[in-house]
Amino acid sequence: MGHQITEEVVTFIIFFISVLFLRIESAQPPFSCDESNKVTSSFPFCNKSLPITQRVHDLVSRLRGRENLTLVNTAPEIPRLGISAYQWWSEGLHGVSKSGRGTTFNGTVKAATLFPQIILTASTFDENLWYRIAQAIGREARAVYNAGQLKGMILWAPNINIFRDPRWGRGQETPGEDPMMVGKYGVVYVRGLQGDSFEGGKLQDGHLQASACCKHFIAQDVGNWNNINRFTFDAHIHMNHPSRVVWNKGKVNSIMCAYNLVNGIPNCANFDLLTTTARGKWGLQGYIVSDCDAVSIMHNEQGFAKEPEDAVVASLKAGNSSIFCFYYFAVKRTIKKINILLVCEIED
Ligand SMILES: *[C@@H]1O[C@H](CO)[C@@H](O)[C@H](O)[C@H]1NC(C)=O
Ligand SMILES: *[C@@H]1O[C@H](CO)[C@@H](O)[C@H](O)[C@H]1NC(C)=O
Ligand SMILES: *[C@@H]1O[C@H](CO)[C@@H](O)[C@H](O)[C@H]1NC(C)=O
Ligand SMILES: *[C@@H]1O[C@H](CO)[C@@H](O)[C@H](O)[C@H]1NC(C)=O
Repeated sequence: MGHQITEEVVTFIIFFISVLFLRIESAQPPFSCDESNKVTSSFPFCNKSLPITQRVHDLVSRLRGRENLTLVNTAPEIPRLGISAYQWWSEGLHGVSKSGRGTTFNGTVKAATLFPQIILTASTFDENLWYRIAQAIGREARAVYNAGQLKGMILWAPNINIFRDPRWGRGQETPGEDPMMVGKYGVVYVRGLQGDSFEGGKLQDGHLQASACCKHFIAQDVGNWNNINRFTFDAHIHMNHPSRVVWNKGKVNSIMCAYNLVNGIPNCANFDLLTTTARGKWGLQGYIVSDCDAVSIMHNEQGFAKEPEDAVVASLKAGNSSIFCFYYFAVKRTIKKINILLVCEIED
């Protein structure tokens, strides 16, 4: 049973591993599979000639105890396997940024190129320019990573929410109010950042230059205004959104589920939204990340989950491989309870 769930975790580890071994010449922090360490470098998951799925299965089979679940939050290093710590959260909306947790500019690399805010870039109506900017961001991210100053190859961008109301306060992060334009921007941004060609379809073996994340899925375009707030807002919508184009055509590696509810269910706990629609109908083939604290608010603010563990389990099940930005994985009892709840669900 535990095995079954662990296999689901494979989906995002495929990305994890494919990123770790891309264009690495010499092992130095934060790289895994240090060739100078005979013990860890001999693991099959370190063997670049093996197919990625085989390497993933090998890695997953070596995880012990709580490691399978700690991996889905800020992942600590696993020295036994020669795996370095991994930070899922980095930002690159208009340039590699240190506003996430993965990037530092205190080493060889002192800064990255800062491009204009998206609303301005988008107003050029120049898809090729949008693509080239994203391509530059992805390359710079890779360079910062290779310099050991980025602890993960994930950038939580682009923001493809529709800009509907200037009072939102985050409209500058988006390509604007037109869904078609937002869709077009998202597609070429994802292609550029992830290392695909402008036309798409050129990613080699699914190896990514960097991983993009379309956020915030779905119907988030309000902050906190007039007694409406993003944590408890319940949007009543029909599914027709630029997101669909971005992961169909752009092949985005991940999406971020938003704080709000849609038709009464928190986005990050909505199986119909995340698995049936995003994965099933729209073809998302990567991982789903919760917005920071989106899981805890199911318990604290939305009254959706009775216990904190129920919120975690609901999200893991809804997304069929989700990771979390912040959560109470630190408590051993919680992990144990999550495992019990997941296993019981499978037995049901
Ligand atoms: C995690 O691994 C432990 C130990 O191997 C196992 O008992 C548990 O069921 C696994 N949990 C999940 C969610 O796969
Ligand atoms: C969940 O993902 C696994 C593969 O990781 C797949 O076999 C399974 O069918 C998925 N479940 C649903 C309900 O989509
Ligand atoms: C890596 O895998 C290939 C293909 O199976 C195999 O021939 C080779 O011996 C492996 N390398 C190591 C170091 O185990
Ligand atoms: C840069 O900052 C990070 C995070 O604070 C720290 O872990 C690292 O040691 C620092 N590196 C240098 C070269 O100062």
